Amino acid sequence: ITVRADQPGAAVPKTMFGLFFEDINFAADGGLYPELVKNKSFELPEPLLGWRALRGGAALEAYQVRTDGPANPASPHYLRLAARTASPDAGVINDGFRGMGVKQGEEYTLTLLARRPAGDVRRLRVTLEGDKGAPLAEAALPLPAGAEWQPLTLTLRPAATFAKARLRLVLDGAGTVDLDAVSLYPKTTWIGRPNGLRPDLVQLLKDLKPGFLRFPGGCIVEGRTLSNRYQWKQTIGEVASRQPMINRWNTEFAHRFTPDYYQSFGLGFFEYFQLSEDIGAEPLPILNVGMACQYNSAELAPLGAAGPSAPAGHDHAQDDPTLDTFIQDALDLLEFANGPATSPWGARRVAMGHPAPFNLKYLGVGNEQWGPQYLERYEPFAKAVKAKYPRVQLVSSAGPSPDGASFDLATKRLREMPAGLVDLIDEHYYARPEWFREHAGRYDNYPRTGPKIFAGEYAAHPQGVGNAKNRNTWDAALSEAAFMTGLERNADVVQMASYAPLFAHVDAWQWAPDLIWFDNLQAYGTPSYYVQQLFSLHKGTRVLPVQLPAGAKNGQDGLYVSAVADGNDVVVKLVNYAATPRPVQLDLNGLKRPAKTGQAQVLAAADLQTENSLQEPRKLAPAVQSFALKEGRASYRLAPYSLTVLRVASQ
Ligand code: AHR
Repeated sequence: ITVRADQPGAAVPKTMFGLFFEDINFAADGGLYPELVKNKSFELPEPLLGWRALRGGAALEAYQVRTDGPANPASPHYLRLAARTASPDAGVINDGFRGMGVKQGEEYTLTLLARRPAGDVRRLRVTLEGDKGAPLAEAALPLPAGAEWQPLTLTLRPAATFAKARLRLVLDGAGTVDLDAVSLYPKTTWIGRPNGLRPDLVQLLKDLKPGFLRFPGGCIVEGRTLSNRYQWKQTIGEVASRQPMINRWNTEFAHRFTPDYYQSFGLGFFEYFQLSEDIGAEPLPILNVGMACQYNSAELAPLGAAGPSAPAGHDHAQDDPTLDTFIQDALDLLEFANGPATSPWGARRVAMGHPAPFNLKYLGVGNEQWGPQYLERYEPFAKAVKAKYPRVQLVSSAGPSPDGASFDLATKRLREMPAGLVDLIDEHYYARPEWFREHAGRYDNYPRTGPKIFAGEYAAHPQGVGNAKNRNTWDAALSEAAFMTGLERNADVVQMASYAPLFAHVDAWQWAPDLIWFDNLQAYGTPSYYVQQLFSLHKGTRVLPVQLPAGAKNGQDGLYVSAVADGNDVVVKLVNYAATPRPVQLDLNGLKRPAKTGQAQVLAAADLQTENSLQEPRKLAPAVQSFALKEGRASYRLAPYSLTVLRVASQ
């Protein structure tokens, strides 16, 4: 294998390998967003989701959600509890998100709004319950007398670590108590930020050194109907006023059905921008283009005047949106992210605590949509955005399956759009592992002019797409690695790529496989995670040509190769999809003053069914070795079923 270090080719974009985040599999509420109370504000269509009454014999006479005299008119529902007699057992329990993960000695802040319209309940007895109801932390929360709402707070410090704790609130006395905005939030968050994120999960993201963060999805963007589409404006501002919504993945169409899934939007667009900044990733929001999911309702917003009409700063509520509404949302988002403090939406960002712009450069328009309805909405949308923000890169969607006719049609029509309206086409590939190995050369002969490619969602599904038995095996990850050598080799065309989905809760997922799995306390990266990490950390700066022995083709006999320059280093990625070791002769042709020792990062397992788990999080993880070179040449033996990243410095 000869790597032409003296012939650097296309630049590898800084955005090459990034992240796809969607609130699927409890990725946000119950995952990255660490609020422990489920349904804290009683605003869902099923207002008592997550709560259970403690009847205290017959002592509890009221357990009801009401709206008269609310604490916050923007979030009008609250819970009324009334005990006819004093009981040690009259109150409520919140079960959290498949339990609440709490750690010994750490602090958890309970906040709530309360009032005492009648009777003599002077305190709430607050307990964090562990195994079989054993108390992990207990405290009494005094309830001031009176019919006015009061904000109350206390800190709980569990005596033990437990993944499935519950919060128990008991009335101390007889009488009526109203509760709202009941929150239990860990003090320890990512960089200690209030309303901050779960640190171990953010760290796993940061460790991937991602080039971009795509959010908020996925199908979440579209909604099953337009009424439950993602509306970014309703996810910013005061957290207490953000209205929750049933999650689009709360559906029998998912690989697995979880009927209790909702979105609180505590993690909203401001927090996504902050997260992008924290992990050094370019933010890439995907917006709705006036179409609900084409698989579900295919509901369309009328085209309207096909241009922005609403005044700047207009904050549309649940309405009958036309395409203009969606265009205005996009323009307002750019102003929110990048505008000065003097602009209406820029001022909203500043008020939320981020005076500096977020420097948003990319915007996705629709997700997995195709056909004439998409194209006739895309064009006026793109024209309006480009007219006001010509430098913003627009990402258009293509149909869902790369082998489908709709996909080819969408891609063809997008390529025919007026110049400059489509910067990147978002292609998705969910397929069996062999598809990835067989299509590693997908972009080798792709047109070099026109829109670039954003490989916005991909993952190998060993049991076929949609099968709940799919596992994150080494077979899947190694096949993705083979495919990624083709992405890297064609970095002039493929400018961004992200595995999907990103997160899954082991007790509450709807889709598998996924990149990172977690429970309420711990998390681990799958073999696919380490493949992503090796490519991302070693993405380099320029593609280098690779020459194989005469007659051999990349991908032949299970050998896949790509190479990049990384400053003065040469990095070669080799996939050996074979059960036997494979000796290779490496010639780093043209590398000036090559070092005598190189570094090898090896991800290998002879058993293709190998997986990581909460118990064995690094069963399969890269091992670092060194290897010898003589004048830029080396004999190297690739392990059976392995991804090897060889790095050689120029001295
Ligand atoms: O990644 C899961 C789903 O797969 C995404 O929401 C959607 O875009 C795709 O069909």
